[in-house]
Amino acid sequence: MTFAGQVALVTGGARGIGKAIAAQLAASGATVVLADLDGDAVEIAAREVGASDGIAVDVSNSSAVDAMVERMVAGHGKIDILVHSAGIGLERSFLETSDEEWHRLIEVDLSGTFYTMRAVGQVMATAGYGRIVTLASTAGERGGTGRAAYGAAKGGVIMLTRVLAVELAESGVTVNTLAPGAIETELVQRMHSDATRVNYRRSIPADRYGTPEEVAEAALFLVSKGASYVTGHVLAVDGGFLAAGVLNRAGWDQ
Ligand SMILES: NC(=O)c1ccc[n+]([C@@H]2O[C@H](COP(=O)([O-])OP(=O)(O)OC[C@H]3O[C@@H](n4cnc5c(N)ncnc54)[C@H](O)[C@@H]3O)[C@@H](O)[C@H]2O)c1
Repeated sequence: MTFAGQVALVTGGARGIGKAIAAQLAASGATVVLADLDGDAVEIAAREVGASDGIAVDVSNSSAVDAMVERMVAGHGKIDILVHSAGIGLERSFLETSDEEWHRLIEVDLSGTFYTMRAVGQVMATAGYGRIVTLASTAGERGGTGRAAYGAAKGGVIMLTRVLAVELAESGVTVNTLAPGAIETELVQRMHSDATRVNYRRSIPADRYGTPEEVAEAALFLVSKGASYVTGHVLAVDGGFLAAGVLNRAGWDQ
């Protein structure tokens, strides 16, 4: 796949899944702009992956998101690809989730996704071409423990993706979401307790956590020109987690 001549915005690009996607896009010829809350890290990441720019932005601030998108269009003339990977995690039981935790999670993971999709969607709809990929989660599809706020936000991301996909379906803009399972990143290192890791592994047919690069491979397909008839889709990248039922593994649970 080549992305030569295409302009991509990758939020949450300073590390983890966003950075891996940005690296693969840049290596495939795209002009990539990274955006992240962590201004120092995003500049370093931009240099590391060969991005044209690293911008500090808080995606939960809608006017800051609008300004970033305006600046990008002024500088590059267009945005062909949006990968919205900015997000935070939280593992907290439903009954112990505080108002502050709830609001911050919803502001960043759900509202931040809405603001970014809206600003970039307007640019793409006007241009008549675009590829949007959001980051949902298997937590948006299964009621795992500790995921009241996170799961609600990610379930919302899935619905934002479907609604925009339908509204823009005739305009040349596709909108899809990735539902990663457990991917080894700093977010997971903060979010997954030792008990969560053991229990997660038991539920993953592949019997391991995934890598950011494996998520990037799926993202590159969805943002490619060839994926022109794929829209409104939730693509699990989860080692079989959502597909699974009973798992009997020799030498493990017998
Ligand atoms: N790692 C996983 O297992 C996993 C699984 C499912 C979904 N996801 C989702 O994938 C996305 C990326 O996760 P990751 O594991 O790469 O996390 P990460 O923590 O490695 O990277 C997330 C990036 O988002 C940035 N960010 C956080 N809040 C922001 C804000 N308000 N504005 C701008 N940037 C902000 C962080 O600074 C960070 O660089 C997230 O939406 C996450 O919920 C991750």
